[in-house]
Amino acid sequence: MDLFEKCYQFVRANEVIAAGLLPYFQTIEENHGPMVKMEGKEVVMAGSNDYLGLSQHPEVIAAAIEAIKAFGSSCSGSRFLNGTSILHTKLEEELADFLGVEACLAFTTGFLTNQGVIATLVERGEHLFSDAENHASIVAASWIVRARGGNVHRYPTNDMVALEAGLKKIPRDAPKLIVTDGVFSMSGRIVDLPALVSLAKTYGARVMIDEAHAAGVLGEGGRGTPSHFGLKNADVDLTMGTFSKSFASLGGFIAGERRVVDYIKFNSQAFRFSASITPGSVGAVRAALKIIRREPERVARLAQITLKMRQGLESQGFKLIKSTTPILPVIIGDDMGTFRFWRRLMDEGVFANAVISPGVPPGMQLIRLSLIATYKEEHMDKILEAFRKVGKEFGLIG
Ligand SMILES: Cc1ncc(COP(=O)(O)O)c(C=O)c1O
Repeated sequence: MDLFEKCYQFVRANEVIAAGLLPYFQTIEENHGPMVKMEGKEVVMAGSNDYLGLSQHPEVIAAAIEAIKAFGSSCSGSRFLNGTSILHTKLEEELADFLGVEACLAFTTGFLTNQGVIATLVERGEHLFSDAENHASIVAASWIVRARGGNVHRYPTNDMVALEAGLKKIPRDAPKLIVTDGVFSMSGRIVDLPALVSLAKTYGARVMIDEAHAAGVLGEGGRGTPSHFGLKNADVDLTMGTFSKSFASLGGFIAGERRVVDYIKFNSQAFRFSASITPGSVGAVRAALKIIRREPERVARLAQITLKMRQGLESQGFKLIKSTTPILPVIIGDDMGTFRFWRRLMDEGVFANAVISPGVPPGMQLIRLSLIATYKEEHMDKILEAFRKVGKEFGLIG
């Protein structure tokens, strides 16, 4: 059979597109902050990870332009060779300082960071414990670990009893890494970090936390999940994050003890063999970080918005997965119903994300709202009104 036969047979997306129900790859024609133009009309953006709304901030935009003027549009090479500018090294120092750890290393994307760090650290015969709800980039890393003879143990999400049972089976002195999202991207739930850190100490494991949806969102001034629980970033061994969400840019980072970060720097293929973050993107992250440090009220505003929107949807009668993060997962319950609900929200002027299985277990298909700190009352009212109207039509609320 021809290798491409599977491509020619792939028609599922076409059917959904023909019915006008495809929620993915939607084109944004214009971006005006929480409002964007799609399908020729203005809709409220409720499906972006720009949690603090900084991608539209004049200082962030100006910093990106300045960086391009100073260093050009591309670094034209990897960090290892010609792609390390003073912008990159300054950013790494500033982030390490923000997180209160010794060192930080900036990768080209968050995906590459997870793939690069985990695959570099966990070698043949060593052990990786990974939460079942971890991001796809961690799953991709675990495939590499397994292919190279490492042992991968997947435990049910946030289930510390199962994690402990798995850890117990392995000698205490066997090298092990526990990797978990701080905030799980589909459910919005927060990991039970104090329990996880304590298990790691008891069983001699290192901990890596993915703060993609927690940095700039949780904890003191947006310092993330450890701070949310009154811990320090130094209490987890490695903090991973991405610049594509609260930091309003593109790229990823790993932060922790200097000797470990240096080891990753010299040994990670994903780091050494991909071109470094473009100057404009680095300029944007540095400006975003400066604003996050200067204006912690943005993080507080996001928390207020989260509370109001969760209470609003729950009081209308919607079923939401419980959490306190700005990811609000509204359960719809089946694939086509979720697509149709998404379509009606668009008609009512709201863009959110449709999540179907296998992204979530069957029966848990959902519309995921990701909230933005720059929402005004009118944006929130519009989202709530659209949900009320469509929810009634679908018989999901009374
Ligand atoms: C939890 C988590 N980790 C990692 C990533 C990958 O980050 P990036 O988009 O910067 O590649 C994402 C992105 O969606 C994410 O949600």
